Amino acid sequence: MRQDSLLSIENLRTRFHTYEGVLTAVDGIGLEVYRGETLGVVGESGCGKSVTALSILRLLASPPAEIQGEILFDGKNLLNMSLDEIRQIRGNSISMIFQEPMTSLNPVLTIGEQISEAIKLHQGVTHQEAWSKTVEMLRTVQIPSPEIRAKEYPHKLSGGMRQRAMIAMALSCHPRLLLADEPTTALDVTIQSQIVELMERLKEEIRTSIVLITHNLGLIAGWPSE
Ligand SMILES: Nc1ncnc2c1ncn2[C@@H]1O[C@H](COP(=O)(O)OP(=O)(O)OP(=O)(O)O)[C@@H](O)[C@H]1O
Ligand SMILES: [Mg+2]
Repeated sequence: MRQDSLLSIENLRTRFHTYEGVLTAVDGIGLEVYRGETLGVVGESGCGKSVTALSILRLLASPPAEIQGEILFDGKNLLNMSLDEIRQIRGNSISMIFQEPMTSLNPVLTIGEQISEAIKLHQGVTHQEAWSKTVEMLRTVQIPSPEIRAKEYPHKLSGGMRQRAMIAMALSCHPRLLLADEPTTALDVTIQSQIVELMERLKEEIRTSIVLITHNLGLIAGWPSE
């Protein structure tokens, strides 16, 4: 293992125990992510990419999920951590952009409420400070009129804007690792490349490592080289 390894996965196996039998979604994969680098994970639909990301953050209910192997983050095995420890890691050191922004954004809270809640929770700042950081973050991800947009509910934003809001939320706590699960799949091509540029820029600014999950080889091919 290299010294600048941030995430190192060995022999990860995730199975679901269902009524129909045992489904092996991830079968002994390994990968390594270095500090400040972007790692692309490419594979056909259903091959276990999302389950891998969800396993890293231990977001799968167990049972039915059963996770085996080793997931070292900064040298510590996430799979051995207590629930309290893993909660500290989520959103703080590792955050995730989910494949479906509509299922991961809360429809009954405004964009600003969701992002500022996350900031308050992880950074222990006042409500007002969290709100101004939220507006700043929405500006950074190039959402126009961020003060107004922050007060809107997710369904009022376009798909591209929702994805940007997700990115803003994921990056608002300056994570050391960002798991981006198909961050641009739902978007049209011009917006896709804007979001790729945006993520790379933010990566430089806050020195985040990225795991970029996609089934789109074109996206990986077009990713700015390091
Ligand atoms: N909660 C679950 N219970 C049972 N099986 C599941 C569960 N979640 C995922 N699976 C199965 O695990 C396998 C891998 O799914 P996963 O969502 O990781 O695929 P993927 O590579 O992300 O695909 P896509 O590119 O379509 O997003 C699939 O066969 C899926 O049906
Ligand atoms: Mg997926």
